[in-house]
Amino acid sequence: MAKLKIVKFGDPMLRKVSRPVTEITPRIVTLIDDMIETMRAEGGCGLAAVQVGVLRRIAVIEVEEGNVIELINPKIIAFAGEQTEQEGCLSNPGEYGITKRPKAVTVRAMNRHGEEFEVSGSDLLARAICHECDHLDGKLYIDVQIRPLD
Ligand code: NI
Repeated sequence: MAKLKIVKFGDPMLRKVSRPVTEITPRIVTLIDDMIETMRAEGGCGLAAVQVGVLRRIAVIEVEEGNVIELINPKIIAFAGEQTEQEGCLSNPGEYGITKRPKAVTVRAMNRHGEEFEVSGSDLLARAICHECDHLDGKLYIDVQIRPLD
């Protein structure tokens, strides 16, 4: 595995829309492994492929230590409620903002074996799912930020 360089805010790459994964090649699997290593090394709880310079619809999330959720072509299929909490991004280290997000979401995605699955999460997991799915459409948390953190 390898730790990858993270693209930072201000780079136009982060505003691009990522393309769906049509075939899970060994290269995609390696990318996912490297994204997990990078996320952990940087102390984050989520990372999208665009953040390491790859415009593919892939994200990894680890809100609960040891429980990595790998999302390929994710789509949020349900959401409910509302939460207003602090949010940050590995592409904007040391900065945080207050955002409004759904309290709970359900996402449908493919795993690295090409199997479709659904996962539901609330609170931090729901925020992370929304945040990472936004990245795949070139959206950043500052777009939904109510105000910066004091
Ligand atoms: Ni981010």
